[in-house]
Amino acid sequence: MALIALGVTGSVGAYKSVEVARGLQKRGHEVVAIMTAAAQQFIGPLTLEAITRRDVITDQFAPGLNSSVEHVSLASTIDALVVAPATANVLGKFANGIADDFLSSLHLVTRAPIVMAPAMNSNMWTHEAVERNLAILRGRGVHLVDPESGELACGWVGPGRLAEPERIVTAVEEVLRPAGSLLGRSVLVTAGPTYEDLDPVRYLGNRSTGRMGLALAAEAARRGAKVTLVLGPTSLVPPAGMESVRVRSAAEMFEAVMTRREATDVMVLAAAVADYAPADGARPQKIPKGEGPLTLVLARTRDILAELGAWRGPRRAPVLIGFAAETRDVVARGLAKLRAKGVDLIVANDVSRADAGFEVETNAVTIVSADAETAVPLRAKSEVARVVVDHVESLLGSAGPVATEDRSGG
Ligand code: CTP
Repeated sequence: MALIALGVTGSVGAYKSVEVARGLQKRGHEVVAIMTAAAQQFIGPLTLEAITRRDVITDQFAPGLNSSVEHVSLASTIDALVVAPATANVLGKFANGIADDFLSSLHLVTRAPIVMAPAMNSNMWTHEAVERNLAILRGRGVHLVDPESGELACGWVGPGRLAEPERIVTAVEEVLRPAGSLLGRSVLVTAGPTYEDLDPVRYLGNRSTGRMGLALAAEAARRGAKVTLVLGPTSLVPPAGMESVRVRSAAEMFEAVMTRREATDVMVLAAAVADYAPADGARPQKIPKGEGPLTLVLARTRDILAELGAWRGPRRAPVLIGFAAETRDVVARGLAKLRAKGVDLIVANDVSRADAGFEVETNAVTIVSADAETAVPLRAKSEVARVVVDHVESLLGSAGPVATEDRSGG
């Protein structure tokens, strides 16, 4: 049983918060409701008080609340903070650290996981400002239950309607669930692009941002694993609670991974590593332009995943997961890579889709193993990460703990 703070903000969907509270209670959780001033325009605190059988917090400075600095004491006792419905306003406040009422102050103090179920007009939902705030929140590990599409209270038709209470409750249950399922395990994740320098100002790179790898690292850390993130050049900030090793080129990434492989239970290679780099390394001086075309001679980089596969050989540990960016025959090509590189799973991305793969928050993948394939339809990268880490856990279950003494190295 968990203690859950349920924040209710000013949207027509506020009435559904009652069903969310009941759903959480039915699963044995205690709920303490917090209503913003705007929420109280839509439903009265009495309804939530009757359902939760607790006082509803409606005001930051109400007499009686301040002696124990309520938002601080509540912040350290709750197991999750759920905001349903979450308006564009509260998303903006959370994303930017504004604390001008009880709920937004609680958000800054608590370290409990956060679930937000947005609800708003479709144009608000797709506004660049809201999208940016959502990206910030996702990057911080906030779990978002995306709104549904349909007829909205304002008369518009489109995305923005609060998710059904059952979906919100399920999302909360998932967040509460497995905190320690990877305790004692060490997981190495590579993420981001690599840059192969041509000269002091130019490089060969690719469009990877590292978002998928960061989501995987965050999910493994959330489940209690000791995580090492080997991160190529990206502007994204690595999540807290893990060791992060910054690298630039494929060769540096190779070094960083190989020197850590012995003590690792799981290696997830999500980085988009350059397959080619300048054959003679970077030129020491800037390459001047000439009249004719420029010819670059490139040489193959070392394939980190394939070398790990060869090093591991028939052993089951460490668990090896690779990614494949494909534009066609996603599953067949994923399977071919799985066999060629001797790994346990290939997470195959269809990068020809605009809403999946590089530079977007969402992904659609197929998880390919030697004997099965699992399609994971379009969803937030944090959700895809959860499915991938579930697969990792079942592989770990069959592989047993890492047996360092069996390793011959090489
Ligand atoms: N990989 C690696 N080292 C490299 C190249 C790739 O470890 N030098 C890893 C990636 O991190 C990823 C997987 O291998 O997990 C991708 O395999 P790859 O065959 O490079 O896939 P694509 O780039 O999609 O291959 P191709 O260009 O051949 O389609």
